Amino acid sequence: MNIFVTRAIPESGIKELKKKGYTVTIYPKDQKIPRKELLRGVQGADAILSLLTEKIDDDVFESAGAQLKMVANYAVGFDNIDLKSAKKRGIIVTNTPSAKVSEAVAEHAIALMFGLAHRIVEADDFTRAGKYRGWGPKMLLGTDVIGKTLGIIGTGNIGVAIARRMHDGFGLKIIYSDIKRNPDLEKKMQAKYRSKEQLLKEADFVSLHVPLLPTTRHLISTKELKMMKKTAFLVNTSRGPVVDEKALVKALARGDIGGAGLDVYECEPLIDCDPKDSYELRKMNNVILTPHTASATIEAREEMSLIAAKNIIAVLSGKKPLNPTKV
Ligand code: GLV
Ligand code: GLV
Repeated sequence: MNIFVTRAIPESGIKELKKKGYTVTIYPKDQKIPRKELLRGVQGADAILSLLTEKIDDDVFESAGAQLKMVANYAVGFDNIDLKSAKKRGIIVTNTPSAKVSEAVAEHAIALMFGLAHRIVEADDFTRAGKYRGWGPKMLLGTDVIGKTLGIIGTGNIGVAIARRMHDGFGLKIIYSDIKRNPDLEKKMQAKYRSKEQLLKEADFVSLHVPLLPTTRHLISTKELKMMKKTAFLVNTSRGPVVDEKALVKALARGDIGGAGLDVYECEPLIDCDPKDSYELRKMNNVILTPHTASATIEAREEMSLIAAKNIIAVLSGKKPLNPTKV
């Protein structure tokens, strides 16, 4: 069996694949694989282990050949894969959800919330710039996190992990919106169900945890940002296009919201969609920007490697995939 891996990932899963006696070919450079090399590399593969940076579409399936049985995406999200075309061809697609990955992303989203509330990055910049000349009662005043209201949009594993920590650990009131109600969350964390609009009006922190779908693209745009409190913080660790980035930049510039913590970008890896358009987000003090690293802990990334491998082994052994993608 031939496995094509589009970029080196942590070893745990690769070891398992090799143990099975599979031939594992890994694109050798530590960079996004160029399209041409992707199309060449997948030829003859029984399984592709892909990253979220690769567009896996019909041309890739065509180039791979009829023996291709599956694509194991090394990510929780899978909007980079053409699921319709995969389905038509009978190709199984899997992702890597797990408790460990959810916890890592939850920690990162929470870190962004605390970073915003306590102005950690701004304070660090200030201190490094030699501006700290003596303690001041009003210097760099932030806001408490404890006791505030957290609005979670999308209560899958990651949303729930955040709700639990913020409710149990910091006494936040949890409100949520989703396509369906989550009775477990309501019972264990006294979470209250809200429409998206109502949630945006009430929350001090809004954290997004929906997959990117046609129905969630620009879920947060001008109208939604205007509904938020002027002091509220928006945190996005899901997918960039869930937020209308141009609208966000304008809302931040106008002071419609208190700030934003972003791990993902609409035109990733660009930070502002129009590269000539000034990099406004980067100049704003009330914004924290991380480079799509919410799941970048050693523990989570090793786990994702192992999960991708386990899915490949299951499918190539004629068993059911452990994590088939679900929309
Ligand atoms: C990362 O963004 C992932 O989907 O795992
Ligand atoms: C601050 O450092 C305080 O002692 O209140």
